[in-house]
Amino acid sequence: ASLVHIVACGTAAHAGFYGQQIIESVAKVACRAELASEFRYRNPVLRSNDLGIVVSQSGETADTLAAVKLMKSAGMKVIAICNVRDSSIPRECDAVMYTNAGIEMGVASTKAFTTQMSLFAVLAAALGVHRKTLSKEQEKEWVDDLLKVPEKIRLILDHSDKVKAIADRYAKKKGFLFLGRGIYYPIALEGALKLKEIAYVHAEGYPSGELKHGPIAMVEPDMVVLAIAPEGDGLLHEKSVSNIEEVKARKGTLFSLVSSSDQHLQEISDTHLVLPSVVTEEVGPLLSVIPLQLFSYYVADALGTEIDQPRNLAKSVTVE
Ligand code: M6R
Repeated sequence: ASLVHIVACGTAAHAGFYGQQIIESVAKVACRAELASEFRYRNPVLRSNDLGIVVSQSGETADTLAAVKLMKSAGMKVIAICNVRDSSIPRECDAVMYTNAGIEMGVASTKAFTTQMSLFAVLAAALGVHRKTLSKEQEKEWVDDLLKVPEKIRLILDHSDKVKAIADRYAKKKGFLFLGRGIYYPIALEGALKLKEIAYVHAEGYPSGELKHGPIAMVEPDMVVLAIAPEGDGLLHEKSVSNIEEVKARKGTLFSLVSSSDQHLQEISDTHLVLPSVVTEEVGPLLSVIPLQLFSYYVADALGTEIDQPRNLAKSVTVE
């Protein structure tokens, strides 16, 4: 394919944004991820040798389904990444990769997101091997890291009390700004979406490098800045840290997700949580989203909102 179009809505789109980054950087395949509600109406240039990948937990999202039909009418092959078997979206696609997350009861997507990202990680590694941009040894490291994700998630869940204590402390703050760069930017978007959905508080996800282009004006002690900044991204990590230092200089309340070796970030943060380490950097986002999901849960709990059935939302959005 000359170009891969990844199209989805909401949390599934955030998985798609992650997928775009790793497929392009690891397998060197040109890739573009976007929101289905925008894609379907913007008259995109689609060629029959482009490939579509749509992501949907329910398989019934109206905008995503319309995007499939649009790509099919351009003669493209479309693959679905889907959780619900035999739903409408896979039926319209040429192939389907099921995420097998099990039934997701809560309106806010959590485990489906993890499995969507896992599938993209597997796909990027497989494509990388196929295109010889990833060696067999590197592929083994990816697989080993992916296989260790469940036990590392358990380690994070063992620290749920700490996340609860932080959430209780910050629940009444005025706003929440989630920052991440590179593969952690989709995680910042997802962290903010979860908080908005179940706790009904104002939250935004931003790429750290954009901070000084606007949102830094909002930073003050009543604004919680959640920085997702584990080490491992080399130069980009250094840049993230300098973005985060700006938050401290403006007296924002800083809660960061860090690596155990990053003493500096731990020291400048008001609160921090140490993330388990990974060998393959691209696997890191699968872990860092978990404390953010827990954080949203505990903030919502502290504020007394309806966590499983948040107001105004439906589990699957079958109308525009
Ligand atoms: O079923 P889908 O994955 O297609 O749904 C897409 C979005 O509606 C969905 O992810 C929504 O954003 C969730 N409520 C997020 O938690």
